Amino acid sequence: MYGNEAEVGRAVRDSGLPRQAVFVTTKLPPDNAGRERQTITRSLRALQMDYVDLWLVHWPPRGQASPDTWRQLLEAREEGLARAVGVSNYSTAQIDELIVSTGEAPAVNQVRWSPMRYDAKRLAESRERGVALEGYSPLKGMDLSTPALVEIARAHGMTPAQVVLRWHVDHRVIVIPKSTTPQRIQSNFDIFGFSLSEDEIARIDDLSARR
Ligand SMILES: NC(=O)c1ccc[n+]([C@@H]2O[C@H](COP(=O)([O-])OP(=O)(O)OC[C@H]3O[C@@H](n4cnc5c(N)ncnc54)[C@H](OP(=O)(O)O)[C@@H]3O)[C@@H](O)[C@H]2O)c1
Repeated sequence: MYGNEAEVGRAVRDSGLPRQAVFVTTKLPPDNAGRERQTITRSLRALQMDYVDLWLVHWPPRGQASPDTWRQLLEAREEGLARAVGVSNYSTAQIDELIVSTGEAPAVNQVRWSPMRYDAKRLAESRERGVALEGYSPLKGMDLSTPALVEIARAHGMTPAQVVLRWHVDHRVIVIPKSTTPQRIQSNFDIFGFSLSEDEIARIDDLSARR
């Protein structure tokens, strides 16, 4: 749906990195449910790759869990076209439907996540089912001048954005910030030299509208 598979594939090749050093995710647009095989074939052709590391159902097709689509993703994984398969924007109930139908949980559920959207119950439900939570839009809609973030950032000599990203990592939530600014891309990666204390994590959890 992003229309960038050819560019991503080219960037990976141009980087000179071995394919296995890069983690490539692509998604099944929900309107392509029923045409899963054609879709992954087209994606791999555009990427000029033999496999993707992760293939996700972008949204529940027509708002439904769609176990038939899930079965097709599992088949593609068995054939080696995707190393792992998962979903995005699925509720816990919809994930349960997939597990009941196939006995297999998605490796990942990619959902909108940030301190403002922290939901301990949802995180626990995901973990209980062995589904890794991947958070999207971690910075969008965040007020990076929030005093708690500014104070914690200052204490670590980091930026508030880095604190937000590290908070995801400390919760073991996969985080995928997006930036078109090279310096931000670099600083968004530079979050593995510090960690937050339990008190700091709890303070950031408390920013959630759900608490
Ligand atoms: N599964 C889904 O349905 C779904 C939906 C939406 C997004 N996503 C995924 O999630 C990824 C990220 O989400 P997103 O783009 O919506 O939100 P995001 O990464 O939270 O926010 C991107 C915005 O934050 C700015 N930004 C990035 N780093 C920053 C920093 N260090 N300090 C201050 N501002 C910073 C960017 O500005 P600049 O670019 O100007 O630096 C951009 O305006 C996307 O790549 C997409 O793949 C998935």
